[in-house]
Amino acid sequence: MSQAKSKIRMRHRHIRDRKELERIGVSLEKELLNGFDALIAGQGYQSRSEAIRDLLRRRLSAEQLSNPKAKVIAAVHLVYNHHSTRLMEKLTDLQHRHLLETICTTHVHLDAHDCLEIIVLKGRAGEIKKMAEKMLSTKGVKLGKVNFVYSGGS
Ligand code: NI
Repeated sequence: MSQAKSKIRMRHRHIRDRKELERIGVSLEKELLNGFDALIAGQGYQSRSEAIRDLLRRRLSAEQLSNPKAKVIAAVHLVYNHHSTRLMEKLTDLQHRHLLETICTTHVHLDAHDCLEIIVLKGRAGEIKKMAEKMLSTKGVKLGKVNFVYSGGS
């Protein structure tokens, strides 16, 4: 089979596998639509449909992630001074005590004193939030942020 033909076949299969789409009509004020168009053009969207789909997904995901019982994946970012005594030990202790699944950790040496640690965790949103707050308030941690990135449901 020629490469072109196999490409076409793949594209067709892709379309068939896609979830059924429904068309909806939305009425918007001209000004609101202009603002939206300018925003999504700046973000590189090729179509309004894709931009609206992403907007809806983000909103639905935020709703799920706000439930403390939702099962989530989160990334905790910590910038800390590695000279701080027993800091890493304390952070590891916290991870064990909260019985969250640590998927992976990444360590970056930022300069002579500071390190960045990214800890990817799996567990209940509320539990992760509590642990992240404790990590961020640990002495020696200069900056920190927790990003809830994915919800696998409740
Ligand atoms: Ni380091």
